[in-house]
Amino acid sequence: MSLSSSRKNPRVLFVTSEVFPLCKTGGLGDVSAALPAALRELRVDIRLLVPGYPSVLSGLKYKRKLAEFDLLPHFPPTTLFSSRLQINESVSVPVYVIHCPELYQRSGGGIYLDDNGQDWPDNARRFGLLSKMGALLASDASPLSWVPDIAHCNDWQSGLTPAYLHYHPGKKSASLMTLHNLAFQGCFSPGEVARLGLPPESFNVHGVEYYGDMSFLKAGIYYATRITTVSPTYAQEIQHEPLGFGLQGLLAERRNAITGIINGIDTTVWNPATDPHIVKKYSSRNLAAKKTNKLALQREMGLEENGEIPLFAGISRLSYQKGYDILLQVAPMLADLPAQLVLLGKGDQLLEKQLVTLAQTNPARIAVRIDYDEALSHRINASADCFLMPSRFEPCGLNQMYSQRYGTSPIVHATGGLIDTVADLAPDTLLDEPASGFHFRKMNADAFMNEIKRAVDTYYDVKLWRTLQRNGMRKDFSWRASALAYLSIYSLLMQR
Ligand code: ADP
Ligand code: GLC
Repeated sequence: MSLSSSRKNPRVLFVTSEVFPLCKTGGLGDVSAALPAALRELRVDIRLLVPGYPSVLSGLKYKRKLAEFDLLPHFPPTTLFSSRLQINESVSVPVYVIHCPELYQRSGGGIYLDDNGQDWPDNARRFGLLSKMGALLASDASPLSWVPDIAHCNDWQSGLTPAYLHYHPGKKSASLMTLHNLAFQGCFSPGEVARLGLPPESFNVHGVEYYGDMSFLKAGIYYATRITTVSPTYAQEIQHEPLGFGLQGLLAERRNAITGIINGIDTTVWNPATDPHIVKKYSSRNLAAKKTNKLALQREMGLEENGEIPLFAGISRLSYQKGYDILLQVAPMLADLPAQLVLLGKGDQLLEKQLVTLAQTNPARIAVRIDYDEALSHRINASADCFLMPSRFEPCGLNQMYSQRYGTSPIVHATGGLIDTVADLAPDTLLDEPASGFHFRKMNADAFMNEIKRAVDTYYDVKLWRTLQRNGMRKDFSWRASALAYLSIYSLLMQR
């Protein structure tokens, strides 16, 4: 039984574990702010549902208490608040916040990990509660008068929402599962099935069971009415090994329900002509001004100040996905070209140590900052000549789009959304699909280094380099086209 109505403008509950600027560990946070904002501009009545981490509670003013819940014997008492999040000058989005201090109020650690970089031991309950609340608000059991037509879930943290909806006996919304990253699957012991209030029969290959465990993500893929991924190329890649990460069989079975929609970026936040974080603002008409930013960044990072030397950069979560182990291998050769390298990242502790050691070997040419720093990330995008993204896989990737907006040409491994957003420099691509960067196809240091050398040769061909920069800056990465594609999926779901 569906809750869908004959309304023209869909009502959507966007269930997410991150939203910028309240809480963010990666691209999901950016998308969870910018996509709903773009959809509201298309008159979609979209509202967010997020866990009440300390930064969410302190970041949102004027919270109104809506209801109190005792959802399941194993969930602590929970209160639902409503508020609004101002995304940009013209758009704000209503937000429902799940206030459950026992699960979300922690003095240390982050959203998913404790201070030692380990998953919080109660993550099944923490995100089980998010999923459960998503399903409740999307069903006729909701205490609210606003009931969505669609529960739009994101990644494993809300993957159980479609499962709870499936087992809800009354009327319920359709569900859309967006896959931002299949590497994180939310796998827990089978005992969680009962604790999370799912019926025993759901622990089945046709259900939440996954290689003997239960998986939130598998549940989302299995039960969701439709599925999207964040780029067309990734939508294909995940139907096969290795990028299906074990879920390729199910994804191939569900291929008719899957659509790849490329992410956009917030073009007001990421605009070199207005960016408050950078030293010198510029546009495609005065690209020479990038040099002022470059000299300032070299000073800030302790590199040799030299406006002419090519400056390469990377900003990333440090994880196996991002291929920084390959970057470690090429960095000494890159420095010898000569060129400089600036890296900003945080994550895997071994990679952090290796990067710090790398910088010590050649401090005039290589600088590393182990941190998460939004403002510095803007300055790096504005100052570098080339942006490095050697990701093993990349469902979409945002930074290659940010860097193109800033006239900083990306060098990317040809995978996922990187293929869909960066056109490789080749004789035909200067005209047909304007070239804006460089692709390497084999995931190894040699192939990566060859493209770095090709980029340096191109950099010294000033006219060609400007063309490459301007091609990137001219690309339309705004959210409108993607939001229209989501709207057509919502319309399909409304017609069910
Ligand atoms: P992912 O979500 O897999 O980490 P994306 O490219 O989609 O990759 O998004 C990453 C986002 O997080 C970008 O906005 C990027 O600039 C930002 N980011 C990642 N690491 C850092 C960091 N150390 N400091 C600042 N921003 C970062
Ligand atoms: C994930 C992916 C990244 C994508 C982001 C937002 O974290 O790793 O490629 O851009 O989600 O969709």
